[in-house]
Amino acid sequence: MEKITLGAMPYMSVMPTLLVGANVKGKPNYMTAAWATVACMAPPMVCVAINKTRYTAEGIQENKTFSLNVPSTGDVVGADYCGIVSGSKEDKSTVWTTFFGKLGTAPMAAECPVSIECKLFRSVDCGSHLLIIGEVVEVHADASCVVDGKPDTVKTDPIVYAQSAYWKVGAPAGRAFAIGKEYRKT
Ligand SMILES: Cc1cc2nc3c(=O)[nH]c(=O)nc-3n(C[C@H](O)[C@H](O)[C@H](O)COP(=O)(O)O)c2cc1C
Repeated sequence: MEKITLGAMPYMSVMPTLLVGANVKGKPNYMTAAWATVACMAPPMVCVAINKTRYTAEGIQENKTFSLNVPSTGDVVGADYCGIVSGSKEDKSTVWTTFFGKLGTAPMAAECPVSIECKLFRSVDCGSHLLIIGEVVEVHADASCVVDGKPDTVKTDPIVYAQSAYWKVGAPAGRAFAIGKEYRKT
């Protein structure tokens, strides 16, 4: 197979579309983020890369708490809005219905079927972006989206981000940690 080099860039095949909730100057603010993933299993941690210029970054440093909210495809307009408008210019506190959890300072969006409440573990200065690593203190989920104690992907209907577009999750391609058992050396 012919390979071509594309140059150094922060590429990832597909990403989630999340809303980072943070209180900034005492008010909830929500910022869209796709550069996010799991960071650790025990203790449970997640991380998100946040540009230093974001209003959200101020709030996370201020309170040392934040949330990652998973919007459904039905809320794609609000999710994109929070990614094209800064809280420094417009009040985004009413875009979502805010609720608070254990930490009291990490605003979460009630419309999102899953909200991950975090306390700041570490902020790593990578250059343009801070890698914000959060210890998960609670996962708040709509009861209607939970199957066997975990959020169900189809019911949650998360927004996938790839190639500057929003996508729905497609069909499963195989059972993880299982289908590999069918591998045979050729
Ligand atoms: C789909 C999408 C994904 C984004 N992902 C990130 C991200 O991972 N990190 C980041 O710093 N900004 C990201 N942004 C840009 C911010 O959401 C945007 O600059 C926003 O206005 C910042 O809000 P704030 O200033 O209120 O914090 C993304 C925007 C969109 C539309």
